[in-house]
Amino acid sequence: MNEPLLNDRTDAILDQDKHLVHSFSEPHALKAPGGRMVISEAEGAYVYTEKGERLLDGMAGLWCVNIGHGRREISSAIAEQLNTLDYFSTFYNLTHPVAAELAEKIATLAPGNLSNVYFGNSGSVANDSAVRTLHYYFNRTGQPRKKKILSRIDAYHGSTHLAIAMTSPDNRVGWDSAEELVHFLSSPGTYRRPDGMSEAQFCDFLIDEMVRDIEKIGAERIACFIAEPIMGAGGVVVPPAGYHERAAAVCKQYEIKTISDEVVTAFGRLGAMFASKEVFNIQPDIICTAKGLSSGYQPISATILSDEIFDVVAEPGSRFMHGMTYSGHPACCAAALANIAILENERICDHVNDAGRYFEQSLKGLSDLDIVGDARGSHFMMGIEFVSNKQTKQAFAKEVFIGQRVAQKAQALGLIVRPLGHMIVLSPPLILDRTQIDEITRTLQQSIVSVTEDLHLEKLL
Ligand SMILES: Cc1ncc(COP(=O)(O)O)c(C=O)c1O
Repeated sequence: MNEPLLNDRTDAILDQDKHLVHSFSEPHALKAPGGRMVISEAEGAYVYTEKGERLLDGMAGLWCVNIGHGRREISSAIAEQLNTLDYFSTFYNLTHPVAAELAEKIATLAPGNLSNVYFGNSGSVANDSAVRTLHYYFNRTGQPRKKKILSRIDAYHGSTHLAIAMTSPDNRVGWDSAEELVHFLSSPGTYRRPDGMSEAQFCDFLIDEMVRDIEKIGAERIACFIAEPIMGAGGVVVPPAGYHERAAAVCKQYEIKTISDEVVTAFGRLGAMFASKEVFNIQPDIICTAKGLSSGYQPISATILSDEIFDVVAEPGSRFMHGMTYSGHPACCAAALANIAILENERICDHVNDAGRYFEQSLKGLSDLDIVGDARGSHFMMGIEFVSNKQTKQAFAKEVFIGQRVAQKAQALGLIVRPLGHMIVLSPPLILDRTQIDEITRTLQQSIVSVTEDLHLEKLL
């Protein structure tokens, strides 16, 4: 597969691709030559373009291919399932063996009393399902005004009408959303905290703000607080130490339910099946998960509800008026079960606690480079923020496209990373070994140094 493919169909594919609407794209820019890349094959930690170039997949697809590409156990499990029961629904009183088995498995893995699993097919739907269920819960418990959602600047919770409303507003400029339902708290990012504040003081500031805003809005109007343990698409934002525990305590005090959006963090990325309890010591009322649940081999998500919430939903006379045709699709459940078996049998979390830590330390070592303001993250979830002045943390002008420049250099050297404004982010498959990690660090170092030289030549530094 290292050799260029004899049958390079790139041009023909791009011609067909004119009809494909690309997520979060600038459709006009895609028309430019070289504006799109065709990935045709993948194996392990690598993907191959239609032209036969091999690239290390520093994004695990889109933060999702946790066990790496090309695992035949999963494709076999899917094929076997489709040959046994291709599809049947989980509506009404219907079920099937793999949906039941997966629900039980997730209930066993999830912390505390999170033992009621609703399947969807995306992280957005998982989060929508969580909020819809909570709104209903509060209707049933005689608190119909309790509907508002606390979210945070830099959050990413998905792209359906409700999920995008809970997402940081810069992700929907000019687009509508159910924004009247959402109140935003400050980003918990420590790098750009107010000058002169220690990390501990910043944590106090965030918690004080939360309390103040709850008091202002009125807890009787607030249903929930939704938070990613570590923000992903918002720039790999790691909150200050103790933040999640303190925010959870405030929510408990004001009877506000907590939703932990573990769409990225669950199933190994931070060295635990679920990060909420094991890494951050919180017991949310709901956990939402998707990507790593099947390692992206099939589209499946889970909204995992506490017994306390589901007991209300399951009272006599109550009806769960929420449903999707493909909720608990047999092929998706089979993929997720096979994926979890690989994560467990190959002790991937242990590996992440070793190699992921090495990855983290290696990338943090790039902080010494001139234009690296902050290299942050945890385990296999990392981001690098670029600045034109390290002392003042001055950001590059948007027109410099700094993230894109570094990503393009890295790609030319055989590594896919995701540009994100003035950052690049990395969330590779969790199976990387130390040699591959060294390869990534070297490639990034080379790319950043080369971009720095270009910026000097162009007098942008
Ligand atoms: C934390 C988080 N929540 C929710 C979502 C939405 O998931 P999906 O794209 O599957 O709808 C994402 C997607 O990147 C995410 O990172």
